[in-house]
Amino acid sequence: MKDRYLDFVNSPFGTSIARSLGLPRPEVLRRHRADRAEFGGMAAIGAGPSPARFDDLLAVLSAIGMTSVAHESAAGWLPVAARHGAMSGRFEPRVRESLASERVEALIFDATGIAHGSELHALYAFFHDALRSLAKSGRIVVLGRASAACASVAAATAQHALEGMVRSLGKEARNGITSNLLRVADDASFESALRFFLSPRSAYVSGQVVTIDSPSSAPQDWARPLAGKRALVTGAARGIGASIATVLAERGAIVTGLDIEAARDALDQTMLAIEDASPSGGAHAALVADITAPEAPADIAAALTASGGVDIVVHNAGITRDKTIARMTGEMWDSVIDINLLAQERIDGVLLEQNTLRDDGRIVAISSIGGIAGNRGQTNYATSKAGVIGRVHAMAPLLRARGITINAVAPGFIETQMTARMPFGVREAGRRLNSMGQGGLPVDVAETVAWLASPGSAGITGNVVRVCGQSLIGA
Ligand code: NAI
Repeated sequence: MKDRYLDFVNSPFGTSIARSLGLPRPEVLRRHRADRAEFGGMAAIGAGPSPARFDDLLAVLSAIGMTSVAHESAAGWLPVAARHGAMSGRFEPRVRESLASERVEALIFDATGIAHGSELHALYAFFHDALRSLAKSGRIVVLGRASAACASVAAATAQHALEGMVRSLGKEARNGITSNLLRVADDASFESALRFFLSPRSAYVSGQVVTIDSPSSAPQDWARPLAGKRALVTGAARGIGASIATVLAERGAIVTGLDIEAARDALDQTMLAIEDASPSGGAHAALVADITAPEAPADIAAALTASGGVDIVVHNAGITRDKTIARMTGEMWDSVIDINLLAQERIDGVLLEQNTLRDDGRIVAISSIGGIAGNRGQTNYATSKAGVIGRVHAMAPLLRARGITINAVAPGFIETQMTARMPFGVREAGRRLNSMGQGGLPVDVAETVAWLASPGSAGITGNVVRVCGQSLIGA
């Protein structure tokens, strides 16, 4: 559904009306486009004492073609840049309303060496000087240490404090700027996550804390990291599931899209469009099944085994049956819990038991911010979606030995048929009560799923990533 307010206040006429009336003007978010460079421009670098990841950071920035300038808090950056043969200058804080050309595209702060609360001042120094230099739809990324890698209580305390900083920056920055924290183990690579959070693909992901706690290797081709992988997407006929199937295919995967009999035509259309757009063509498949049917897990496993197994399983199919608990029928409760939660358990059980899901596989389960915050009239839905998060936490350690990761993606307000059916007031509140002042698009969820499904994300498991524009709900 179109967001007419967003379109209006960003039209030439609407811009002046909004300005004269003092109306909020949400930014038109910069999203990925095939005809536009994904990265570019300049990153300003700040740091606390003893930053540990300058070399890795420089390697990523060089690989994606971003240049850098060092804030005075990052004194060691220039020698490291010189060692890498990378050009880097000094960051000069803005002294006046600057020209667009003086702005930087990203602010990156290496906080990995911060081991005591007294050292957090370096964050203040950097962001105080640099925040106003950040371009519209710019990116803030803070690198911290994973809890397990903190050597003392004081270090763990200071590292946790970073979360408050990053989330507050996301709320202050506005203008389509995102702010996220990567908590990285000493031996883990953060390239996959840093690329995602610096790119337009993460346009609607802000205020998130991602833990990367084990090493991973780079994909052969960052533009098509899923090449050679096979993926299953449930609920793929329309909405978020159709977008996930499309983006996974764009990123190189061969996709089996699954949906119910009633959605057969829409599913066929979605998979045909994917097939037409695929350079390799041919191999994508539509699978009609009700995920709650008793025979579904075995049938799905058989279909996937026939094509050689599966590497990526995306549990997206979901329903709402809203009523306050006193008015809710038992059938409304049961159907939501069964589709949104229990079917995932049964399907994964068979796929894992039969090794249909291959080693180094990926499971991504779609949750909801309703599962984090709860929602009036949605006891069944919120229970199911919180259960999805619980399952991700409990399964992650069990799957490590096989190199399989499992993560949850929790969308906020996403423009789909589901949200188009909401009453006007509820829909407008959902759209506006977040740092971006607008709803997300299915592609925002899909890009997040594709990032977590990538071989480069092997170190990310047991995480919950919200795609909610930093919604105030459940924050
Ligand atoms: P949608 O209703 O547009 O699409 C859901 C798809 O799942 C449909 O194609 C439907 O036929 C399929 N499906 C339903 N029951 C099934 C079953 N038993 N077996 C196989 N397929 C089945 O929903 P939307 O908005 O695309 O949501 C996708 C996921 O994202 C859901 O899990 C939803 O809970 C979640 N979500 C959506 C949000 C939003 O704002 N749209 C917000 C938070 C979470």
